[in-house]
Amino acid sequence: AATARYEAEASPAVCTGTIDSDWTGFSGSGFCNGTNAVGASAQFTVVAPTAGTATLTVRFANGTTTARPADLLVNGTTVAAGAAFGSTGTWTGWTSKAFTVPVAAGTNTVRLSPTSAAGLANIDHVEL
Ligand code: GCU
Repeated sequence: AATARYEAEASPAVCTGTIDSDWTGFSGSGFCNGTNAVGASAQFTVVAPTAGTATLTVRFANGTTTARPADLLVNGTTVAAGAAFGSTGTWTGWTSKAFTVPVAAGTNTVRLSPTSAAGLANIDHVEL
């Protein structure tokens, strides 16, 4: 099926932090700048046509030199623990990271939950 895009700044997505637009190159009207803290999450509601396995991509930027690890949870279950969102060189250096995830038919909750005090990379959108 075709992929759909879900913007971090668009309801029903939830960003524990601020929606910013100061670093160019994002899609939509902004991105989630999560609070620099463990667990300060970015959450999305995505739709899958059928139950099974899907590819979820996360577009992010990390202008520091240190990876920002995060757990990826789907419907409350951790499907990737401490996934590294590595340096992208600059905060305008957006890139996408792909995950293979289990999904239910219909709506699914996807949450990125940072595991270090640095919090999340800046999160632009996810696609599924
Ligand atoms: C800077 C940058 C933010 C980023 C933050 C961080 O303040 O402008 O976009 O989110 O660093 O380190 O998380």
